[in-house]
Amino acid sequence: MNILVLGGGGREHALAWKIKQSPLCTRLICAPGNGGIASIAETASLNIEDGAEVVRYSRDQSIDFVVIGPEAPLAAGVADALSEAGVACFGPSAAAAQLEASKSFTKEICDACGAPTAAWAAFEDAAAARAYVEEQGAPIVVKADGLAAGKGVVVAMSLEDALAATDAALSEPGARVVIEEFMTGEEASFFVLTDGETVLPLASAQDHKRAFDGDNGPNTGGMGAYSPAPVFTPAVEQKAMATIVQPVIAEMAKRGAPYRGVLYVGLMIENEEPRLVEFNARFGDPECQILMLRLASDIVPALQACGAGGLNDITLDWAAEPAMTVVLAAEGYPGGYQKGQLIGGLDAAGAVPGVTVFHAGTRSIDGGVVSNGGRVLNVCATAADLATARDRAYAAVDAIDWPGGFHRTDIGWRAL
Ligand code: AMP
Ligand code: GLY
Repeated sequence: MNILVLGGGGREHALAWKIKQSPLCTRLICAPGNGGIASIAETASLNIEDGAEVVRYSRDQSIDFVVIGPEAPLAAGVADALSEAGVACFGPSAAAAQLEASKSFTKEICDACGAPTAAWAAFEDAAAARAYVEEQGAPIVVKADGLAAGKGVVVAMSLEDALAATDAALSEPGARVVIEEFMTGEEASFFVLTDGETVLPLASAQDHKRAFDGDNGPNTGGMGAYSPAPVFTPAVEQKAMATIVQPVIAEMAKRGAPYRGVLYVGLMIENEEPRLVEFNARFGDPECQILMLRLASDIVPALQACGAGGLNDITLDWAAEPAMTVVLAAEGYPGGYQKGQLIGGLDAAGAVPGVTVFHAGTRSIDGGVVSNGGRVLNVCATAADLATARDRAYAAVDAIDWPGGFHRTDIGWRAL
């Protein structure tokens, strides 16, 4: 089977790495790919948010199956374009991907099926939004309603910050803001595959969204993660499936927008009670990297079944060993940063026992690898226990020679 993976981050490197191990995969192409992907797959340059272009390329290259990694092509309807053209793909339709693209849509779906989540209200009018914020008081959460790479959310601890965030979110004409109750507890994410009807649970993880140690600094796409998440106990899983995942999947089907793909279920857990923080219509990045390391079974039949149906016939085996990933990012990220810096020591890092290095924002040049993005490398490790996985990951981080990079030194603190 010829398989095309869309995307070029650490998530797509991990997906490509896992897909490449499948006996079903005879040819693997990734667009645009990155410096690490280029060593295991062909890479292609195409506009992955343009459905017509992806369809044309897939036909030209006799692609049998397209795996969509990031959210932007999903929201742009690339899965719809492929389906219409008869090209099998993994990734929800644009209508179903609204579960990530629109926070107010998700809130309406939760209300319709009774899924527990923060109390909320949505506004387009600044005066009405401000009045609501003043009435509710701080702490309160202000979310710009649209895709913002996880950066459009302000958890405001003071009324002043909340009002400023509300004004900022509504500064563009036609903008919409969702204002939410501040939930307390511990966050974890849970991933499931679904064909629109059957739900196959994958695994749990915990991310570290803030840029700096001690959960300080600005929000990022994620600076490190581990799987499984100890807070996600079997009792929490059972409740999350019964009160959130199953009802939402059924509600989407009822509305004629069946959700087919991977659903990222972001949860706040307090006293073993899960409430929904957010959905994403894709694998988490960097959570995907550690899930792929822990997955013992072939992933390709499971990904195919999401679009083609028959997920109820699939079982997946998982390694009991935990996995951790530490993100190396360019100095300045999530703000401005430099590209094109040479990175050394990758072979030495990869030689540490249990370690796999996935590339995110890298590019290969003659004789090496250079930085090419904000999040640049995912140094991952598995071991019999999480403390050893952490030690291995950080030993590998120390082997990498990249003066322009930074990383958190406390990944896993909550579980350890
Ligand atoms: P989101 O993009 O909706 O996941 O929000 C980003 C981050 O903001 C989440 O991972 C949480 O840490 C935090 N957050 C979002 N909504 C809430 C909420 N209602 N209560 C507390 N924290 C929240
Ligand atoms: N790591 C968080 C996300 O992928 O949204």
